[in-house]
Amino acid sequence: MKLVFLGPPGAGKGTLAARAVELLKVPHISTGNIFRAAIAAKSELGLKVKSIIDAGKLVDDETTTALVRERLGSEAGGYILDGFPRTIPQAKALEAFAAVDKVVNFDIPDSSVLERLGGRRTCKVCGANYHVLFGRPKKDGVCDSCGGELYIRDDDREEAIAKRLEVYRGQTAPLIEFYRDRGLLVDVDARPSVNEVVENFKRAAGLV
Ligand code: AP5
Repeated sequence: MKLVFLGPPGAGKGTLAARAVELLKVPHISTGNIFRAAIAAKSELGLKVKSIIDAGKLVDDETTTALVRERLGSEAGGYILDGFPRTIPQAKALEAFAAVDKVVNFDIPDSSVLERLGGRRTCKVCGANYHVLFGRPKKDGVCDSCGGELYIRDDDREEAIAKRLEVYRGQTAPLIEFYRDRGLLVDVDARPSVNEVVENFKRAAGLV
């Protein structure tokens, strides 16, 4: 199955993707994770995108699209694209090089986004997400999966979150209608607990 996960920052796309890959046995391709790995490695790409991401802005369409095109080149089967496309030009470019079966739209109010991002802790090594209230690790500050150190993302500061929400409304939310018009959009209520969101997703994706 070829899926796109669409939704505001902090809606729970990465958290659900971690569960959905177990169900669907497809890779989770997150442009945010790819950029953060590049930043951690201090690669040319990482140095180019760090200040953009920390400020809550979008990396340019050309760079991001080229990255995804290359990554998808080796994926003949299904995938979960998380965080791409994020603009109309990216969505149009994607149509030219890869198929999409469904676009899962994570429906959530800003108040929940603020609560989720405010308490998020991310693993420095594997990128797994935790939350100080809703998804604590077994040992404080340590990733359950790989033992890596947990940290607060630079773009989870208050000013960056406000910018990310503004960018989402201006540039990414128009994709909801873009994909609805193509008959690909399914809405998922992303407000309840992770297990309930997984059930909502299974129904929306036609898995049950
Ligand atoms: P990216 O990493 O994609 O950030 P995002 O879309 O803002 O999404 P997040 O990772 O912040 O949130 P999420 O929806 O995955 O939520 P999560 O599961 O962590 O992109 C980062 C940056 O990279 C962008 O700002 C941009 O600069 C750049 N970029 C990326 N793609 C790009 C593109 N295509 N074009 C241009 N630039 C691009 O959950 C959040 C928290 O809530 C966690 O703590 C989690 O534990 C908790 N939680 C999750 N679900 C639940 C639940 N159901 N109940 C309670 N808590 C929950």
